[in-house]
Amino acid sequence: MPQSLVTTAYIAAGVLFILSLGGLSKQETARRGNTLGIVGMLIALVATAAGGQVSGDGYAILAAAIGLGAIIGAVLAARVGMTSMPELVAILHSFVGAAAVLVGFASYLDPNSQLSGVDALIHDVEVYLGVFIGAITFTGSIIAFGKLRGMIGSKPLMIPGRHFINLGMLVGCVGLGVPFLTASHQGGVMPLLIMAAIACVLGIHLVMAIGGADMPVVVSMLNSYSGWAASAAGFMLSNDLLIITGALVGSSGAILSYIMCRAMNRSFISVILGGFGADEGVAPAKRSDEPQGEVVSVTAQETAALLADAKSVVVVPGYGMAVAHAQYPLWEVAMLLRERGTTVRFAIHPVAGRLPGHMNVLLAEAKVPYDIVLEMDDINEDFPHTDCVLVIGANDIVNPSALDDPSSPIYGMPVLEVWKAKTTVVMKRGMASGYAGIENPLFFHENTKMLFGDAKKMVDAILTELRGGGGKAEAA
Ligand code: TAP
Repeated sequence: MPQSLVTTAYIAAGVLFILSLGGLSKQETARRGNTLGIVGMLIALVATAAGGQVSGDGYAILAAAIGLGAIIGAVLAARVGMTSMPELVAILHSFVGAAAVLVGFASYLDPNSQLSGVDALIHDVEVYLGVFIGAITFTGSIIAFGKLRGMIGSKPLMIPGRHFINLGMLVGCVGLGVPFLTASHQGGVMPLLIMAAIACVLGIHLVMAIGGADMPVVVSMLNSYSGWAASAAGFMLSNDLLIITGALVGSSGAILSYIMCRAMNRSFISVILGGFGADEGVAPAKRSDEPQGEVVSVTAQETAALLADAKSVVVVPGYGMAVAHAQYPLWEVAMLLRERGTTVRFAIHPVAGRLPGHMNVLLAEAKVPYDIVLEMDDINEDFPHTDCVLVIGANDIVNPSALDDPSSPIYGMPVLEVWKAKTTVVMKRGMASGYAGIENPLFFHENTKMLFGDAKKMVDAILTELRGGGGKAEAA
């Protein structure tokens, strides 16, 4: 394939990747965004393979590697459950990191390299940076995978003086750059190897120091690192598309991490620097044995009556809805209410559940239309005008102490202000705390009623009541 055609194909693929990212930012266009990304990647693969750098036996090796990788990837992706997605993403990032390290060494030791003078120096800097970022991403991602899988304890590893250890390793890596860059032709392998080993230890140590609560942010951060590692590999290989794609992944991963940190009230800098400034880790949960007030419980029948009476209903799904798989009967309940003229909407907190977009995906699975699924910022002002809010298996994301209790570990985190509605029904199995391990004053609020039980069973019971049993609900 002539070089001009390869360049055109790369530009087309780059544009498709940008359009793909744009599509992925909205639920309605996410599917199209995915398709554009797939097409872009196919174009990139074909153009790279046909670009003249591969020849003869190389094609057979390339085809075998791509075929095997595609089969393993497809089987794993088809099997993985929604809640295990962060683990899969973490281990995939480790592959990108390992690839950047291997490309770095291969590029440095390339026997056909013709570079000299400034060009050779720039290339060596690219190799050094690529191997450094790749090695941190490789081991950091393996540790993140182990923590998410439960193979490694989720407690942060707090070695005394750990920030100085990290700083020492960083200084060591920078220092080793001197013998590497001043070595004669390909003579810097030893400093490069030692630096890669130190960067591997640094990756392990940085992620070990972060608690399980911050792990999804770390995975997103490693996603960003893997993008920069790919970008560095693009510089080494003089491949413009790899540079562009790496930069897109790197910057979008960093933006996602920042958004998640804000939504979870975590310090972005602390997370990327391995828990810097958070020596105690996640603040201990405030616990009190004294009852915080009275809890008013309701039955599924009473809840059905409340819903049937309401003119406007907002449903707030959380982790418990995902565990119970309650989204399907929930949408049936919503449809019944809508048929009766009730306005029903769904309110989504950015960190509801356990992964970004968790609730959106589950509601989309149940075929809930996108236009009634609203983000927190778009619905928070409507709660005072809402007759009934149904909180399903959510806890931290509707905790008022995030707004009014400065001693709360989640103080400052934006939450869905459901207590402002006329009535709020909270559906959960008992009084257990959520992910943050803290009490929730919402349960004792004068407008709150608790519907105790498994979310799926309770929603089924409400559905039965509204359907035919409906008599009671209609009469109420
Ligand atoms: P949580 O605060 O974890 O609360 C979930 C509640 O669901 C629990 O209190 C539990 O109470 C209830 N529950 C569990 N199984 C249930 C079932 N079968 N039926 C009914 N209820 C059930 O969830 P949330 O409100 O969605 O908040 C998410 C939390 O996870 C936040 O703290 C967030 O920072 C954190 N987090 C989020 C992410 C992302 S990216 N989304 C990543 C990591 C961490 P019972 O046991 O009493 O039923």
